[in-house]
Amino acid sequence: MRSLWWDPAGPTLHLIDQRQLPGRLVVLELKTADAVAEAIRTMAVRGAPAIGAAAAFGLALAAAGTKAGRDVEAEVHRASARLRAARPTAVNLQWAIDECLRRSGPLTERGRAAALADAAQAMADEDVETNRTIGRHGAALLSDGDTVLHHCNTGALATVDYGTALGVIRTAHEQGKRLRVLVDETRPRLQGSRLTAWELEQYGIPYAIIADGAAGHMLQRGEVQAVLVGADRVAANGDVANKIGTYMLALAAHDNHVPFYCVVPTSTIDLVTPNGSAIPIEERDPAEVLDLVHQGQRAAPEGSQALNPAFDITPARLVTAFVTEAGVLHPPYPDTLAQVKSP
Ligand code: MRU
Repeated sequence: MRSLWWDPAGPTLHLIDQRQLPGRLVVLELKTADAVAEAIRTMAVRGAPAIGAAAAFGLALAAAGTKAGRDVEAEVHRASARLRAARPTAVNLQWAIDECLRRSGPLTERGRAAALADAAQAMADEDVETNRTIGRHGAALLSDGDTVLHHCNTGALATVDYGTALGVIRTAHEQGKRLRVLVDETRPRLQGSRLTAWELEQYGIPYAIIADGAAGHMLQRGEVQAVLVGADRVAANGDVANKIGTYMLALAAHDNHVPFYCVVPTSTIDLVTPNGSAIPIEERDPAEVLDLVHQGQRAAPEGSQALNPAFDITPARLVTAFVTEAGVLHPPYPDTLAQVKSP
């Protein structure tokens, strides 16, 4: 099952509501671009490639839902602005909207909605192929018997299907390599313990969930042969924006001479953004931190304040290599990233 899929008859975008996993597998049926933007904002759909794919279908919904006498182009333009604003850090969201508009442009004589839906579907299918290619490149970096440490969720749920960093782990597993995955639980939204563990259960890959703060200890003990993460945006100099906690993980990997691999489709590379300090970091509702329930009770005292940056920046110098569909990229990153990024 893909994380999201399109029904042209509705038209309807179906997507797995990731807020409800692992307890319940609920599929949302979205019929407007506004509903898609809200699903992205509230993280019913999440993960950089998945929100890009959802937004592309959102454009098709905007065109299909345009009332008679209204300007379709204007409606699509308004929808694209709302979709772009839903989450700021993942460049895949902006990329997918631009790419879908670009690809569908010459097809207007077939109808704007059909052209946008066709473009979105092609991009969704390509995402899966890209991830399988990334998986093959990345699996070569892993050996039989390795323990790998993974942050957040980069699997089928975070993409259209198969996953990026988790796709590398899946490919190595499918090749017969015996791996064990240490799953960072990834506070505050627990994408690791809720989503990555749920996926690994289905793939039959051995894993153990660890508290985020345990990662440094496991690295220091020599228990980890590689750290694998995804990214929401890679700046031109190789700085990486990814789920909060990635920076500390990269520091601990560096200190313990463990390779730190960032696994991304080239659509995550943003050559327009020179370095990490220029990447917008999403600040989410403090309630996501404060409302954690511990033994049936809200963990934080009433009246507590919290800060909730959703992403952090890992400097390029801490990234051993980027794994992309174009191959494994080593420093110097301004050069190797620019070489694989199509204009
Ligand atoms: O806030 P999220 O859950 O959307 O954050 C997701 C991540 O940080 C992933 O690592 C990233 O999007 C890559 S997913 C292939």
